[in-house]
Amino acid sequence: MIDRNRRNLIAGGLAAAAVWPGMGRARAARFKAYPFSLGVASGCPLPEGVILWTRLTFPEPPPPADPFAPLEVIQRAPVDVIWDVAEDEHFTRPVRSGTVRAVQEFGHSVHVPVAGLRPGRWYFYRFRAGDAVSPVGRTRTAPAQETMADRLRFAFASCQQYEQGYYAAYQHMADADLDLVVHLGDYIYERSWGGNLVRHHGSGWPARLDEYRARHALYRSDPNLQATHARFPWLVIWDDHEVINNYGDDNAPDAPAGERFLEQRRAAYQAWYEHMPVPPHGGGDFSEFRIYGQHGFGRLLGITLLDVRQYRTPAMVGGQGAAQADANSMLGAEQERWLEETLPGARARWNVIAQPTLLSERDLEQGEGRRYSLDGWDGYRASRRHLLDSIEAARLENPLIIGGDLHAYFAADVKRDFAQPKSETVATEFVTGAISSNAPGQKSLDVALAENPHLKLASREHGYATMTLTPDGGQCDFVTIEDRKDPASPASTTYSFALTSGQPGVNRI
Ligand SMILES: [Fe+2]
Repeated sequence: MIDRNRRNLIAGGLAAAAVWPGMGRARAARFKAYPFSLGVASGCPLPEGVILWTRLTFPEPPPPADPFAPLEVIQRAPVDVIWDVAEDEHFTRPVRSGTVRAVQEFGHSVHVPVAGLRPGRWYFYRFRAGDAVSPVGRTRTAPAQETMADRLRFAFASCQQYEQGYYAAYQHMADADLDLVVHLGDYIYERSWGGNLVRHHGSGWPARLDEYRARHALYRSDPNLQATHARFPWLVIWDDHEVINNYGDDNAPDAPAGERFLEQRRAAYQAWYEHMPVPPHGGGDFSEFRIYGQHGFGRLLGITLLDVRQYRTPAMVGGQGAAQADANSMLGAEQERWLEETLPGARARWNVIAQPTLLSERDLEQGEGRRYSLDGWDGYRASRRHLLDSIEAARLENPLIIGGDLHAYFAADVKRDFAQPKSETVATEFVTGAISSNAPGQKSLDVALAENPHLKLASREHGYATMTLTPDGGQCDFVTIEDRKDPASPASTTYSFALTSGQPGVNRI
């Protein structure tokens, strides 16, 4: 029996046996194929720490010559992974290192909380396992809590359907001068649609853990996406396509409702966790997985991440109108309460609320009458009211709303009462265009601009956005690529907006 195990281990991904399940320590392995093919990442920066991420991959084991061979042994072998953090990219000034065990249960992903670093500094990191060394990543800690940084700049991005375009936008982002990247969701897509695809998923809608894992791994195989992960720390939230289109809580229009869907959602959440630079999972089965939270960058910047999918009242089907929109909850009672309690403690000069989509109202009906997308905040008016009330009650300084999802760029004056164009502007909102997903027609954007005076820009380019903040002001730039079907498309800053502390509202330069 042992012999057969050993034979199959040698025939499979690991040339030397790493470990027998349940027996002893993992040993150094020689890999048949490079195990760090998904690259490295970092995220959730603190003044004295950061999360480091990688996930080891193994080639599919060859078909067994012996039908009774327990091939799963190969896949189950844990691997001890050494991580190194240094002040320089050649690791001549090492500062921290350690070992973490990558286990099959979490797809051999690792999430390392590194502590003991210095605030507001660049660091370099890598992983080693057996005879393999990962690419080198670079990351940056947050400024110290009491420090007012001279300047911080982050990029934000969303909607990267793999088949509809290349990630040229990420090639430019990787070269940009940034402290951080914020991803606002639709990191993967569960489905294919549209024509003129440039590459293919090669599989259908995922439902099981192995299928969601494979989809994430496919997206993450893109070298430009990997490069941007390796270059900056990220903050990440999800939208719907990380699970399935337009889902909310335990309900999705295109999936069986109830327990079967919750099983699918658990699988999707786990695969997301396994591929994101977020803190180690604390146990449990991913029935609930908290991603909302607040991230501080000294006295200059605070970023609040929201989850608008996991706890929402499932969206109305068929548009029953305003009555339900007034009752539905976008964030769920617990997250709303958390927000109410947390925002008053946010004492940064600039306070970013990061959520997946457009917060401001958007009437889609040309001329008389009103029509709304009920999957967005317009289907959850009471929740929007509550969020804006919480921002006001907390006396949040310079609130900035950022979002994505619409596959078009938007800039908006967030009004206390959208029905009254003269009502006070209480925040500034910027929505980034898609990295690669198909954009809506120009007509619908023209209608949105004509019907909603608080919307100051709606534009269907692709790319990302950057936010540059200083103690007194700043700038939001929409960085667009010429052609998402061109893997080497040039990029340029097409729209810029000035920010002045104490003066909310869109101010195009
Ligand atoms: Fe999207």
